[in-house]
Amino acid sequence: MANDKKVLLQISGLKQYFPINARKNIYVRANDGISIDIYEGEAFGLVGESGCGKSTLGRSVLQLYKQTDGRTMYFGRSIDEVAPKYAYDTFRTLTKRRELIKEKQAKYDEFKKEYDSKSEKEQYELHSRLVQLRKEANDAILDVTTLIGGLILHPDLSKVEALFCEIYKYGKELRRAMDLRELAQLDTDDAAFALKKAEEEGKATEGLKAKLEKNKAKLWAIDNNIEAIKRKSAETYKKSEAFRKEVENLPENHEDEEHHSDGIDLARLTYNEMRKLRSDMQLIFQDPYSSLNPRMTVGQIIGEGMLAHNYFRKNDERMQNEVIRVMEECGLAPYFLHRYPHQFSGGQRQRIGIARSLALRPKFVVCDEAVSALDVSIQAQIINLLQELKEKQHLTYLFITHDLSVVKFISDRIGVMYLGNMVETAASEELFAHPLHPYTEALINAIPTTDPDSSKQPEVLEGDIPSPVNPPKGCKFHTRCKYCTEICTKVTPEWEEVRPNHFVACHHILEQNKKEI
Ligand SMILES: Nc1ncnc2c1ncn2[C@@H]1O[C@H](COP(=O)(O)OP(=O)(O)OP(=O)(O)O)[C@@H](O)[C@H]1O
Ligand code: SF4
Ligand SMILES: [Mg+2]
Repeated sequence: MANDKKVLLQISGLKQYFPINARKNIYVRANDGISIDIYEGEAFGLVGESGCGKSTLGRSVLQLYKQTDGRTMYFGRSIDEVAPKYAYDTFRTLTKRRELIKEKQAKYDEFKKEYDSKSEKEQYELHSRLVQLRKEANDAILDVTTLIGGLILHPDLSKVEALFCEIYKYGKELRRAMDLRELAQLDTDDAAFALKKAEEEGKATEGLKAKLEKNKAKLWAIDNNIEAIKRKSAETYKKSEAFRKEVENLPENHEDEEHHSDGIDLARLTYNEMRKLRSDMQLIFQDPYSSLNPRMTVGQIIGEGMLAHNYFRKNDERMQNEVIRVMEECGLAPYFLHRYPHQFSGGQRQRIGIARSLALRPKFVVCDEAVSALDVSIQAQIINLLQELKEKQHLTYLFITHDLSVVKFISDRIGVMYLGNMVETAASEELFAHPLHPYTEALINAIPTTDPDSSKQPEVLEGDIPSPVNPPKGCKFHTRCKYCTEICTKVTPEWEEVRPNHFVACHHILEQNKKEI
Protein backbone atom coordinates (compact mmCIF):
# COMPACT_ATOMS: atom_id res chain seq x y z
CA MET A 1 0.00 0.00 0.00
CA ALA A 2 2.64 2.46 1.07
CA ASN A 3 5.14 1.93 -1.71
CA ASP A 4 3.94 4.70 -4.00
CA LYS A 5 4.02 7.19 -1.13
CA LYS A 6 6.69 9.67 -0.30
CA VAL A 7 8.92 8.84 2.65
CA LEU A 8 8.91 11.59 5.26
CA LEU A 9 11.30 10.00 7.74
CA GLN A 10 13.78 7.28 7.12
CA ILE A 11 15.14 5.74 10.29
CA SER A 12 17.98 3.29 9.89
CA GLY A 13 20.00 1.39 12.45
CA LEU A 14 18.86 3.72 15.19
CA LYS A 15 20.41 3.01 18.56
CA GLN A 16 19.77 4.74 21.83
CA TYR A 17 21.90 3.48 24.69
CA PHE A 18 21.59 5.16 28.07
CA PRO A 19 24.82 4.79 30.01
CA ILE A 20 24.73 3.18 33.44
CA ASN A 21 28.46 2.72 33.67
CA ALA A 22 30.09 3.70 30.40
CA ARG A 23 33.56 2.77 31.59
CA LYS A 24 32.46 -0.82 32.16
CA ASN A 25 30.42 -0.75 28.97
CA ILE A 26 27.08 -1.09 30.77
CA TYR A 27 24.13 0.52 28.99
CA VAL A 28 20.36 0.37 28.87
CA ARG A 29 19.86 -0.63 25.25
CA ALA A 30 16.55 1.17 24.90
CA ASN A 31 16.65 1.17 21.08
CA ASP A 32 18.95 -1.42 19.63
CA GLY A 33 19.17 -0.87 15.87
CA ILE A 34 15.75 0.12 14.55
CA SER A 35 15.03 0.70 10.87
CA ILE A 36 11.68 1.98 9.60
CA ASP A 37 10.39 4.35 6.95
CA ILE A 38 7.51 6.61 7.88
CA TYR A 39 5.45 7.78 4.89
CA GLU A 40 3.97 11.20 4.44
CA GLY A 41 0.36 11.35 5.59
CA GLU A 42 0.28 8.02 7.40
CA ALA A 43 -0.23 7.14 11.02
CA PHE A 44 2.43 4.68 12.05
CA GLY A 45 1.38 2.92 15.25
CA LEU A 46 4.08 1.71 17.60
CA VAL A 47 3.16 -0.99 20.14
CA GLY A 48 4.89 -3.16 22.68
CA GLU A 49 4.97 -3.75 26.42
CA SER A 50 6.11 -1.13 28.89
CA GLY A 51 9.84 -0.45 28.71
CA CYS A 52 10.37 -1.82 25.20
CA GLY A 53 11.66 1.57 24.02
CA LYS A 54 8.66 3.21 22.30
CA SER A 55 8.98 6.63 23.94
CA THR A 56 12.73 6.53 23.47
CA LEU A 57 12.25 5.94 19.75
CA GLY A 58 9.79 8.84 19.46
CA ARG A 59 12.10 11.16 21.33
CA SER A 60 15.21 10.08 19.48
CA VAL A 61 13.52 10.70 16.13
CA LEU A 62 12.59 14.20 17.33
CA GLN A 63 16.23 14.62 18.41
CA LEU A 64 15.22 15.25 22.00
CA TYR A 65 17.90 12.69 22.78
CA LYS A 66 21.17 12.59 20.95
CA GLN A 67 21.03 9.24 19.16
CA THR A 68 23.84 6.82 20.00
CA ASP A 69 24.05 5.52 16.46
CA GLY A 70 22.16 5.24 13.19
CA ARG A 71 20.58 7.75 10.85
CA THR A 72 17.35 9.72 10.91
CA MET A 73 16.75 11.34 7.53
CA TYR A 74 13.96 13.91 7.25
CA PHE A 75 12.46 14.71 3.84
CA GLY A 76 9.97 17.40 4.88
CA ARG A 77 12.32 20.19 3.78
CA SER A 78 14.98 20.41 1.14
CA ILE A 79 18.62 20.48 2.07
CA ASP A 80 19.00 23.86 0.33
CA GLU A 81 16.27 25.33 2.45
CA VAL A 82 18.01 24.30 5.65
CA ALA A 83 21.62 24.67 4.38
CA PRO A 84 23.02 22.79 7.37
CA LYS A 85 26.57 23.32 8.49
CA TYR A 86 27.38 19.61 8.28
CA ALA A 87 26.83 19.79 4.53
CA TYR A 88 29.42 22.54 4.26
CA ASP A 89 31.87 20.64 6.46
CA THR A 90 31.49 17.67 4.13
CA PHE A 91 31.79 19.68 0.91
CA ARG A 92 34.99 21.39 1.86
CA THR A 93 36.71 18.19 2.95
CA LEU A 94 35.77 15.85 0.12
CA THR A 95 39.36 14.88 -0.64
CA LYS A 96 40.00 13.93 2.97
CA ARG A 97 36.74 12.04 3.12
CA ARG A 98 37.57 10.00 0.04
CA GLU A 99 40.80 8.94 1.78
CA LEU A 100 38.82 7.98 4.87
CA ILE A 101 36.41 5.88 2.80
CA LYS A 102 39.32 4.05 1.20
CA GLU A 103 40.95 3.47 4.57
CA LYS A 104 37.78 2.08 6.13
CA GLN A 105 37.09 -0.13 3.14
CA ALA A 106 40.65 -1.50 3.19
CA LYS A 107 40.37 -2.24 6.89
CA TYR A 108 37.15 -4.13 6.32
CA ASP A 109 38.53 -6.07 3.35
CA GLU A 110 41.59 -7.12 5.32
CA PHE A 111 39.53 -8.29 8.28
CA LYS A 112 37.08 -10.09 5.99
CA LYS A 113 39.94 -12.07 4.47
CA GLU A 114 41.11 -13.12 7.92
CA TYR A 115 37.51 -13.93 8.94
CA ASP A 116 36.92 -16.11 5.89
CA SER A 117 39.98 -18.18 6.70
CA LYS A 118 38.70 -19.10 10.20
CA SER A 119 36.64 -22.02 11.41
CA GLU A 120 32.90 -21.57 11.97
CA LYS A 121 33.36 -21.45 15.74
CA GLU A 122 36.05 -18.77 15.52
CA GLN A 123 33.94 -16.84 13.03
CA TYR A 124 31.16 -16.70 15.58
CA GLU A 125 33.54 -14.85 17.94
CA LEU A 126 34.71 -12.44 15.22
CA HIS A 127 31.34 -11.74 13.68
CA SER A 128 30.44 -8.62 15.65
CA ARG A 129 33.79 -7.02 14.80
CA LEU A 130 33.20 -7.78 11.12
CA VAL A 131 29.76 -6.18 11.28
CA GLN A 132 31.22 -3.15 13.05
CA LEU A 133 33.91 -2.64 10.41
CA ARG A 134 31.43 -3.02 7.58
CA LYS A 135 29.23 -0.46 9.26
CA GLU A 136 32.09 2.01 9.67
CA ALA A 137 33.00 1.65 6.00
CA ASN A 138 29.35 2.10 5.03
CA ASP A 139 28.89 5.14 7.26
CA ALA A 140 31.97 6.83 5.80
CA ILE A 141 30.55 6.41 2.29
CA LEU A 142 27.00 7.38 3.23
CA ASP A 143 28.08 10.58 5.01
CA VAL A 144 29.25 11.82 1.63
CA THR A 145 27.05 10.07 -0.93
CA THR A 146 23.77 11.10 0.68
CA LEU A 147 24.89 14.66 -0.11
CA ILE A 148 26.67 14.39 -3.47
CA GLY A 149 25.96 10.87 -4.72
CA GLY A 150 28.51 9.21 -6.98
CA LEU A 151 30.39 12.48 -7.50
CA ILE A 152 32.79 11.29 -4.83
CA LEU A 153 34.33 9.27 -7.68
CA HIS A 154 35.09 12.34 -9.78
CA PRO A 155 38.77 12.39 -10.86
CA ASP A 156 39.21 16.04 -9.94
CA LEU A 157 37.66 16.27 -6.50
CA SER A 158 38.99 19.76 -5.83
CA LYS A 159 36.68 21.04 -8.60
CA VAL A 160 33.73 19.22 -7.06
CA GLU A 161 34.69 20.60 -3.66
CA ALA A 162 34.73 24.17 -4.98
CA LEU A 163 31.43 23.75 -6.77
CA PHE A 164 29.61 22.34 -3.77
CA CYS A 165 31.00 25.04 -1.51
CA GLU A 166 29.45 27.49 -3.97
CA ILE A 167 26.13 25.62 -3.93
CA TYR A 168 26.21 25.76 -0.16
CA LYS A 169 26.96 29.47 -0.20
CA TYR A 170 23.81 30.09 -2.25
CA GLY A 171 21.84 27.82 0.04
CA LYS A 172 22.92 29.86 3.01
CA GLU A 173 22.19 33.16 1.29
CA LEU A 174 18.77 31.83 0.43
CA ARG A 175 18.11 30.81 4.00
CA ARG A 176 19.13 34.23 5.24
CA ALA A 177 16.94 35.94 2.65
CA MET A 178 13.99 33.75 3.65
CA ASP A 179 14.48 34.74 7.30
CA LEU A 180 14.50 38.42 6.30
CA ARG A 181 11.43 37.82 4.20
CA GLU A 182 9.59 36.38 7.19
CA LEU A 183 10.27 39.54 9.20
CA ALA A 184 9.46 41.85 6.27
CA GLN A 185 6.17 40.01 5.80
CA LEU A 186 5.35 40.54 9.48
CA ASP A 187 6.10 44.27 9.12
CA THR A 188 3.97 44.53 5.99
CA ASP A 189 1.05 42.70 7.62
CA ASP A 190 1.38 44.93 10.69
CA ALA A 191 1.32 48.06 8.54
CA ALA A 192 -1.68 46.85 6.54
CA PHE A 193 -3.53 45.99 9.72
CA ALA A 194 -2.78 49.38 11.32
CA LEU A 195 -3.97 51.17 8.16
CA LYS A 196 -7.21 49.19 8.00
CA LYS A 197 -7.93 49.93 11.62
CA ALA A 198 -7.24 53.66 11.21
CA GLU A 199 -9.54 53.76 8.17
CA GLU A 200 -12.33 52.06 10.09
CA GLU A 201 -11.92 54.49 12.97
CA GLY A 202 -11.79 57.46 10.59
CA LYS A 203 -8.30 58.52 11.67
CA ALA A 204 -5.51 60.07 9.57
CA THR A 205 -3.99 57.52 7.24
CA GLU A 206 -1.29 59.34 5.24
CA GLY A 207 1.65 58.30 7.40
CA LEU A 208 0.35 54.73 7.62
CA LYS A 209 -0.10 54.49 3.87
CA ALA A 210 3.49 55.61 3.36
CA LYS A 211 4.68 53.06 5.88
CA LEU A 212 2.79 50.29 4.15
CA GLU A 213 4.24 51.26 0.78
CA LYS A 214 7.74 51.32 2.22
CA ASN A 215 7.30 47.85 3.67
CA LYS A 216 5.86 46.52 0.45
CA ALA A 217 8.87 47.90 -1.43
CA LYS A 218 11.21 46.18 1.00
CA LEU A 219 9.38 42.89 0.57
CA TRP A 220 9.56 43.30 -3.19
CA ALA A 221 13.33 43.91 -3.04
CA ILE A 222 13.83 40.80 -0.91
CA ASP A 223 11.73 38.73 -3.32
CA ASN A 224 13.86 39.94 -6.20
CA ASN A 225 16.98 39.03 -4.31
CA ILE A 226 15.57 35.55 -3.62
CA GLU A 227 14.87 35.09 -7.31
CA ALA A 228 18.44 36.16 -8.16
CA ILE A 229 19.94 33.70 -5.67
CA LYS A 230 17.76 30.92 -7.03
CA ARG A 231 18.91 31.66 -10.57
CA LYS A 232 22.57 31.60 -9.58
CA SER A 233 22.00 28.43 -7.60
CA ALA A 234 20.32 26.78 -10.62
CA GLU A 235 23.47 27.57 -12.66
CA THR A 236 25.66 25.75 -10.17
CA TYR A 237 23.31 22.77 -10.30
CA LYS A 238 23.75 22.63 -14.05
CA LYS A 239 27.50 22.47 -13.52
CA SER A 240 27.10 19.66 -11.01
CA GLU A 241 24.98 17.75 -13.55
CA ALA A 242 27.86 18.07 -16.03
CA PHE A 243 30.23 16.62 -13.42
CA ARG A 244 27.79 13.83 -12.80
CA LYS A 245 27.83 12.89 -16.49
CA GLU A 246 31.61 12.72 -16.39
CA VAL A 247 31.41 10.33 -13.47
CA GLU A 248 28.73 8.21 -15.11
CA ASN A 249 31.17 7.55 -17.94
CA LEU A 250 33.84 6.36 -15.57
CA PRO A 251 34.35 2.59 -15.68
CA GLU A 252 34.58 2.29 -11.87
CA ASN A 253 31.23 3.92 -11.15
CA HIS A 254 28.98 1.73 -9.04
CA GLU A 255 25.83 1.83 -7.01
CA ASP A 256 26.79 4.84 -4.87
CA GLU A 257 24.61 7.09 -6.95
CA GLU A 258 21.48 5.57 -5.54
CA HIS A 259 22.42 6.68 -2.03
CA HIS A 260 22.11 10.29 -3.06
CA SER A 261 19.17 11.68 -1.13
CA ASP A 262 17.55 15.00 -0.58
CA GLY A 263 16.96 14.30 3.07
CA ILE A 264 18.28 16.10 6.08
CA ASP A 265 20.39 14.05 8.45
CA LEU A 266 18.78 15.23 11.68
CA ALA A 267 21.45 13.98 14.07
CA ARG A 268 24.07 16.06 12.28
CA LEU A 269 22.24 19.37 12.66
CA THR A 270 23.46 22.00 15.09
CA TYR A 271 21.26 22.96 18.02
CA ASN A 272 20.00 26.09 16.27
CA GLU A 273 19.35 24.32 12.98
CA MET A 274 17.27 21.73 14.80
CA ARG A 275 15.49 24.41 16.79
CA LYS A 276 14.24 25.93 13.55
CA LEU A 277 12.97 22.55 12.37
CA ARG A 278 11.12 22.02 15.65
CA SER A 279 8.04 23.69 14.23
CA ASP A 280 7.84 20.81 11.72
CA MET A 281 8.07 18.10 14.35
CA GLN A 282 6.01 18.08 17.49
CA LEU A 283 5.24 15.84 20.45
CA ILE A 284 1.90 15.25 22.18
CA PHE A 285 2.37 13.85 25.67
CA GLN A 286 0.46 11.28 27.65
CA ASP A 287 -0.14 13.42 30.69
CA PRO A 288 -1.45 16.77 29.53
CA TYR A 289 -1.59 18.15 33.03
CA SER A 290 2.07 17.88 33.92
CA SER A 291 3.10 19.15 30.51
CA LEU A 292 0.99 22.31 30.65
CA ASN A 293 2.39 25.25 32.60
CA PRO A 294 -0.17 25.87 35.40
CA ARG A 295 0.60 29.59 35.49
CA MET A 296 -0.16 30.21 31.84
CA THR A 297 -3.58 30.69 30.31
CA VAL A 298 -4.75 28.46 27.48
CA GLY A 299 -4.17 31.35 25.06
CA GLN A 300 -0.61 31.83 26.26
CA ILE A 301 0.12 28.10 26.13
CA ILE A 302 -1.06 27.79 22.55
CA GLY A 303 0.52 31.08 21.44
CA GLU A 304 3.93 30.48 23.02
CA GLY A 305 5.39 28.59 20.07
CA MET A 306 3.95 31.06 17.55
CA LEU A 307 5.94 33.84 19.21
CA ALA A 308 9.10 31.76 19.51
CA HIS A 309 8.97 30.91 15.81
CA ASN A 310 8.26 34.45 14.61
CA TYR A 311 4.72 33.75 13.43
CA PHE A 312 3.67 36.89 15.28
CA ARG A 313 5.23 39.62 17.34
CA LYS A 314 4.42 40.02 21.00
CA ASN A 315 1.19 41.96 21.64
CA ASP A 316 0.01 41.45 18.07
CA GLU A 317 -3.79 41.53 18.25
CA ARG A 318 -4.06 39.12 15.34
CA MET A 319 -2.36 36.35 17.23
CA GLN A 320 -5.43 35.90 19.41
CA ASN A 321 -7.55 35.22 16.32
CA GLU A 322 -5.10 32.58 15.19
CA VAL A 323 -5.05 30.99 18.66
CA ILE A 324 -8.84 30.90 18.71
CA ARG A 325 -8.88 29.34 15.26
CA VAL A 326 -6.57 26.55 16.45
CA MET A 327 -8.68 26.11 19.60
CA GLU A 328 -11.84 25.73 17.56
CA GLU A 329 -10.18 23.17 15.33
CA CYS A 330 -9.41 21.18 18.46
CA GLY A 331 -12.94 21.47 19.83
CA LEU A 332 -12.21 24.15 22.46
CA ALA A 333 -14.63 27.07 22.91
CA PRO A 334 -13.13 30.54 22.35
CA TYR A 335 -14.11 31.70 25.85
CA PHE A 336 -11.60 29.20 27.33
CA LEU A 337 -8.84 31.51 26.11
CA HIS A 338 -8.15 33.15 29.48
CA ARG A 339 -8.64 30.10 31.65
CA TYR A 340 -5.93 28.04 33.33
CA PRO A 341 -5.20 24.30 32.84
CA HIS A 342 -6.52 23.28 36.28
CA GLN A 343 -9.99 24.48 35.29
CA PHE A 344 -10.33 21.70 32.71
CA SER A 345 -11.12 17.99 32.62
CA GLY A 346 -8.57 15.45 31.40
CA GLY A 347 -10.06 15.23 27.91
CA GLN A 348 -10.13 19.00 27.50
CA ARG A 349 -6.58 19.30 28.76
CA GLN A 350 -5.52 16.82 26.13
CA ARG A 351 -7.25 19.01 23.54
CA ILE A 352 -5.18 21.95 24.82
CA GLY A 353 -2.02 19.85 24.51
CA ILE A 354 -2.99 18.93 20.95
CA ALA A 355 -3.77 22.55 20.07
CA ARG A 356 -0.38 23.61 21.41
CA SER A 357 1.40 21.00 19.29
CA LEU A 358 -0.56 21.80 16.14
CA ALA A 359 -0.38 25.60 16.48
CA LEU A 360 2.85 25.68 14.50
CA ARG A 361 1.38 23.67 11.61
CA PRO A 362 3.83 20.78 11.99
CA LYS A 363 4.29 18.04 9.41
CA PHE A 364 5.14 15.23 11.79
CA VAL A 365 3.69 14.57 15.25
CA VAL A 366 4.71 11.96 17.81
CA CYS A 367 1.66 11.09 19.92
CA ASP A 368 3.13 9.35 22.96
CA GLU A 369 0.35 7.49 24.79
CA ALA A 370 -1.79 10.50 23.92
CA VAL A 371 -5.02 8.85 25.06
CA SER A 372 -3.78 6.30 27.60
CA ALA A 373 -4.60 8.38 30.66
CA LEU A 374 -8.18 9.08 29.55
CA ASP A 375 -11.49 7.27 30.17
CA VAL A 376 -12.47 4.96 27.34
CA SER A 377 -15.33 7.20 26.13
CA ILE A 378 -13.06 10.27 26.07
CA GLN A 379 -10.32 8.22 24.37
CA ALA A 380 -12.58 7.67 21.38
CA GLN A 381 -13.29 11.40 21.12
CA ILE A 382 -9.62 12.34 21.19
CA ILE A 383 -8.73 9.62 18.69
CA ASN A 384 -11.45 10.93 16.37
CA LEU A 385 -10.10 14.44 16.76
CA LEU A 386 -6.55 13.34 15.96
CA GLN A 387 -7.83 11.41 12.95
CA GLU A 388 -9.79 14.41 11.69
CA LEU A 389 -6.86 16.81 12.14
CA LYS A 390 -4.57 14.39 10.35
CA GLU A 391 -6.84 14.32 7.30
CA LYS A 392 -7.39 18.08 7.24
CA GLN A 393 -3.79 19.11 7.76
CA HIS A 394 -2.11 16.22 6.00
CA LEU A 395 -0.22 15.28 9.16
CA THR A 396 2.01 12.29 9.69
CA TYR A 397 1.82 10.54 13.06
CA LEU A 398 4.02 8.25 15.03
CA PHE A 399 1.33 6.96 17.33
CA ILE A 400 2.78 5.29 20.40
CA THR A 401 0.70 3.11 22.70
CA HIS A 402 1.00 -0.08 24.70
CA ASP A 403 -2.65 -0.81 23.85
CA LEU A 404 -3.01 -2.74 20.61
CA SER A 405 -6.75 -2.12 20.41
CA VAL A 406 -6.18 1.66 20.42
CA VAL A 407 -3.55 1.52 17.73
CA LYS A 408 -5.78 -0.61 15.49
CA PHE A 409 -8.22 2.26 14.98
CA ILE A 410 -5.87 5.03 14.09
CA SER A 411 -2.92 3.38 12.38
CA ASP A 412 -2.34 2.75 8.70
CA ARG A 413 0.65 0.63 9.59
CA ILE A 414 1.80 -0.88 12.86
CA GLY A 415 5.25 -1.65 14.19
CA VAL A 416 5.62 -4.11 17.06
CA MET A 417 8.58 -3.55 19.36
CA TYR A 418 10.21 -5.89 21.81
CA LEU A 419 13.10 -5.00 24.08
CA GLY A 420 14.58 -2.29 21.88
CA ASN A 421 13.96 -3.91 18.49
CA MET A 422 11.25 -3.88 15.88
CA VAL A 423 10.00 -7.45 15.50
CA GLU A 424 7.20 -6.99 12.96
CA THR A 425 5.71 -4.24 10.77
CA ALA A 426 2.70 -4.45 8.46
CA ALA A 427 -0.40 -2.57 7.42
CA SER A 428 -2.82 -2.47 10.33
CA GLU A 429 -5.43 -4.90 8.92
CA GLU A 430 -2.75 -7.24 7.62
CA LEU A 431 -1.08 -7.38 11.04
CA PHE A 432 -4.30 -8.37 12.80
CA ALA A 433 -5.34 -10.81 10.07
CA HIS A 434 -1.93 -12.47 9.67
CA PRO A 435 0.35 -11.91 12.64
CA LEU A 436 3.62 -13.65 11.80
CA HIS A 437 5.69 -13.02 14.92
CA PRO A 438 4.92 -15.05 18.05
CA TYR A 439 5.12 -11.86 20.14
CA THR A 440 2.52 -10.09 17.98
CA GLU A 441 0.29 -13.15 18.23
CA ALA A 442 0.65 -13.08 22.00
CA LEU A 443 -0.26 -9.38 22.16
CA ILE A 444 -3.34 -9.96 20.00
CA ASN A 445 -4.43 -12.94 22.09
CA ALA A 446 -4.14 -10.80 25.22
CA ILE A 447 -6.76 -8.28 24.00
CA PRO A 448 -10.01 -8.84 25.91
CA THR A 449 -12.81 -9.64 23.47
CA THR A 450 -15.71 -7.19 23.20
CA ASP A 451 -18.02 -9.82 21.76
CA PRO A 452 -20.41 -10.90 24.58
CA ASP A 453 -21.15 -14.27 22.89
CA SER A 454 -17.53 -15.22 22.60
CA SER A 455 -16.21 -17.64 25.15
CA LYS A 456 -12.63 -16.79 24.20
CA GLN A 457 -10.61 -15.71 27.18
CA PRO A 458 -7.71 -13.30 26.80
CA GLU A 459 -4.39 -15.10 27.17
CA VAL A 460 -1.89 -13.32 29.32
CA LEU A 461 1.64 -13.37 28.00
CA GLU A 462 3.68 -15.09 30.69
CA GLY A 463 7.21 -14.52 31.84
CA ASP A 464 9.19 -11.48 32.90
CA ILE A 465 10.50 -9.00 30.42
CA PRO A 466 14.30 -9.43 30.43
CA SER A 467 16.50 -6.47 31.24
CA PRO A 468 17.46 -4.19 28.34
CA VAL A 469 20.86 -3.83 30.05
CA ASN A 470 21.69 -7.44 29.42
CA PRO A 471 19.21 -8.73 26.82
CA PRO A 472 19.02 -12.45 25.90
CA LYS A 473 21.31 -13.61 23.11
CA GLY A 474 19.94 -14.63 19.72
CA CYS A 475 16.25 -13.73 19.48
CA LYS A 476 15.55 -11.47 22.47
CA PHE A 477 12.07 -12.98 22.81
CA HIS A 478 13.31 -16.54 23.22
CA THR A 479 12.95 -16.61 27.01
CA ARG A 480 9.17 -16.21 26.66
CA CYS A 481 8.39 -17.72 23.27
CA LYS A 482 6.43 -20.96 23.03
CA TYR A 483 7.91 -21.75 19.61
CA CYS A 484 11.53 -21.32 20.70
CA THR A 485 14.10 -23.84 19.44
CA GLU A 486 17.87 -24.03 19.82
CA ILE A 487 18.69 -21.70 16.94
CA CYS A 488 16.58 -18.93 18.57
CA THR A 489 18.88 -18.92 21.60
CA LYS A 490 22.00 -18.41 19.49
CA VAL A 491 21.30 -16.59 16.25
CA THR A 492 19.58 -13.22 15.91
CA PRO A 493 16.79 -13.61 13.33
CA GLU A 494 17.06 -11.48 10.18
CA TRP A 495 14.53 -8.80 9.31
CA GLU A 496 12.68 -10.09 6.24
CA GLU A 497 9.76 -9.15 4.00
CA VAL A 498 7.67 -12.30 4.22
CA ARG A 499 4.48 -11.01 2.60
CA PRO A 500 4.24 -7.80 0.56
CA ASN A 501 5.10 -4.86 2.86
CA HIS A 502 4.97 -7.21 5.82
CA PHE A 503 8.30 -7.48 7.62
CA VAL A 504 9.21 -9.78 10.48
CA ALA A 505 12.26 -11.02 12.37
CA CYS A 506 11.73 -14.62 13.51
CA HIS A 507 13.25 -18.03 12.75
CA HIS A 508 9.89 -19.80 12.92
CA ILE A 509 7.33 -17.46 11.42
CA LEU A 510 3.89 -18.63 12.42
CA GLU A 511 3.27 -21.61 10.17
CA GLN A 512 -0.39 -21.33 9.32
CA ASN A 513 0.15 -17.80 7.99
CA LYS A 514 3.16 -18.71 5.94
CA LYS A 515 1.23 -21.48 4.15
CA GLU A 516 -1.44 -19.08 2.91
CA ILE A 517 1.04 -17.08 0.88
N1 LIG B 1 16.59 8.92 30.15
C1 LIG B 1 16.79 7.62 30.41
N2 LIG B 1 17.89 7.19 31.08
C2 LIG B 1 18.09 5.88 31.33
N3 LIG B 1 17.24 4.92 30.94
C3 LIG B 1 16.14 5.27 30.29
C4 LIG B 1 15.83 6.64 29.98
N4 LIG B 1 14.65 6.68 29.32
C5 LIG B 1 14.24 5.40 29.21
N5 LIG B 1 15.12 4.55 29.80
C6 LIG B 1 15.02 3.08 29.83
O1 LIG B 1 14.93 2.65 28.49
C7 LIG B 1 14.00 1.57 28.37
C8 LIG B 1 12.92 1.99 27.38
O2 LIG B 1 12.13 3.01 27.96
P1 LIG B 1 10.94 3.74 27.21
O3 LIG B 1 10.43 4.80 28.08
O4 LIG B 1 11.37 4.13 25.86
O5 LIG B 1 9.87 2.58 27.08
P2 LIG B 1 8.35 2.61 26.63
O6 LIG B 1 8.20 1.53 25.62
O7 LIG B 1 7.98 3.98 26.23
O8 LIG B 1 7.59 2.18 27.94
P3 LIG B 1 6.16 2.67 28.53
O9 LIG B 1 5.10 1.88 27.79
O10 LIG B 1 6.23 2.28 29.97
O11 LIG B 1 6.04 4.14 28.33
C9 LIG B 1 13.48 1.30 29.76
O12 LIG B 1 14.24 0.24 30.29
C10 LIG B 1 13.75 2.59 30.50
O13 LIG B 1 13.97 2.34 31.86
S1 SF4 C 1 13.01 -16.43 16.67
FE1 SF4 C 1 12.42 -18.15 17.88
S2 SF4 C 1 12.23 -17.35 19.97
FE2 SF4 C 1 12.23 -15.64 18.57
S3 SF4 C 1 10.11 -15.23 18.21
FE3 SF4 C 1 10.80 -16.54 16.57
S4 SF4 C 1 10.33 -18.60 17.30
FE4 SF4 C 1 10.23 -17.26 19.06
MG1 LIG D 1 6.62 5.39 26.98
